[in-house]
Amino acid sequence: CLGTVAATRNPLFSTVNDDDVKYFIDIVGDKNVIQDEDRLQTANIDWMRKFEGSSKLMLLPRSSIEVSQILTYCNSRSLAVVPQGGNTGLVGGSVPVFDEVIVNLSLMNNIISFDKVSGILVCEAGCILENLISYLDNHGFIMPLDLGAKGSCQIGGNVSTNAGGLRLVRYGSLHGNVLGLEAVLANGSVVDMLGTLRKDNTGYDLKHMFIGSEGSLGIVTKVSILTPPKLSSVNIAFLACEDYFSCQKLLLEAKSKLGEILSAFEFLDINAMDVVLHHLDGLRNPIPTSGHKFFILIETTGSNELYDKERLEAFLLSSMEQGLVSDGVLAQDINQASSFWRIREGIPEALMKAGAVYKYDLSIPLERMYDLVDEMRSRIGNQANVVAYGHLGDGNLHLNISAPQYDDAILEQIEPFVYEWTSRHRGSISAEHGLGLMKANMIYYSKSYETVQLMTSIKKLMDPKGILNPYKVLPHTIVPQNSG
Ligand code: FAD
Ligand code: MLT
Ligand code: ZN
Repeated sequence: CLGTVAATRNPLFSTVNDDDVKYFIDIVGDKNVIQDEDRLQTANIDWMRKFEGSSKLMLLPRSSIEVSQILTYCNSRSLAVVPQGGNTGLVGGSVPVFDEVIVNLSLMNNIISFDKVSGILVCEAGCILENLISYLDNHGFIMPLDLGAKGSCQIGGNVSTNAGGLRLVRYGSLHGNVLGLEAVLANGSVVDMLGTLRKDNTGYDLKHMFIGSEGSLGIVTKVSILTPPKLSSVNIAFLACEDYFSCQKLLLEAKSKLGEILSAFEFLDINAMDVVLHHLDGLRNPIPTSGHKFFILIETTGSNELYDKERLEAFLLSSMEQGLVSDGVLAQDINQASSFWRIREGIPEALMKAGAVYKYDLSIPLERMYDLVDEMRSRIGNQANVVAYGHLGDGNLHLNISAPQYDDAILEQIEPFVYEWTSRHRGSISAEHGLGLMKANMIYYSKSYETVQLMTSIKKLMDPKGILNPYKVLPHTIVPQNSG
């Protein structure tokens, strides 16, 4: 295991025995109790191949009742559990640390209802995001979130990580789009908060506790989500800027000139572009003129083809006149549009192919964001490649340090510097990926001691034995870290 986070197994947890397995077979059926080594190996290791557990058992429940029966039993036997969706998480949250029972939601993949008038979709947590996108497309709607892992990630995983993605700048976060959910608590009780109302101020809005709590407070089993109508006119521009300041100014311009039709504002630097072109097949730089250091992908989505295109062209012209954009290209057809997206969405995959990657997901005030990248480059020198990309429209930098192999000397240059720098600039050490195992002990860089105390009390109330996703999210160390 390459994960650098030290945790010791909680001795109060039991170990799975033959009687437990028999009990689980009674609940979910023989074929949904997985003990096969190959399947377990895949489920024990995360997408980045950085964190590996040693679970001997994966369960595939088919209904909320089965999830409830599993958790009731695990709680009474003090068996620790890791909830798992598509296992695309990037912080080691979705795999066991030791021998936790994996509860994978993939068989709970039914669409329960879709209301064409309100655009409200109700579905089970194991639905794969891309399947929901296709389903809605047939009905003239879209999901309010989209991300590179759509082919594997599940809506329950998206909700549990409060995934951001590529369209947050337009549609906002899942805290706004998720209207309701059903969750099963550690003691097995099924909490029905599956409302489908836009407005409901009756007491505490407890669904928010589950959005972004990374499986530490309950297993999300159903979700109700508000989906926007699909609009007919989509335009995509791929632009080059000479410096980071121009990218930043371009964002402000895009917000004011494109306004309500802006649906994505993504950025990548030349290092990210080079990694993609080098490691993914069939792609070429849309702006072949050399010397550009930054690239911006802008998408507009609206309902008037002519008007939207004119607006985008006027914005591009004025940005060029102001010297913010040095070159650019508008996608001429759907193939070109998807190749632009492939460049941006393919960066994580290309980085995995390039070797070892230290991945940081930061919210940083826009004007200072690239200072961190420059400082990191001067610390790392030629030991590794410092790559920057992200959701500039949301103030979210993905800072990745790519090296031939993992090396403690490189890590020492990165941490705790990256966390201290972010904390000093009042940023967040996890903009969208969560804390998982990787950053559980780093929480104090972004949250006060009192806030973490309150979180710990809530966790104790909802999961007194701590069986749900142990060692993740909340710190295992008691003393606050130096918050820089
Ligand atoms: P998993 O990885 O299986 O689990 C993630 C966490 O949620 C774990 O803590 C797990 O215990 C918990 N969990 C999963 N399902 C449930 C459930 N039903 N109930 C309770 N807890 C549960 N993230 C972004 O925010 N924006 C991006 O743009 C983005 N792009 C990505 C691109 C790639 C190529 C990859 C590999 C990952 C990306 N991610 C992104 C990270 C990841 O968070 C998302 O892919 C996704 O939200 C995780 O969903 P999943 O079903 O794979 O969850
Ligand atoms: C992305 O925006 O591409 C994802 O969050 C994944 C990553 O950060 O690598
Ligand atoms: Zn991202």
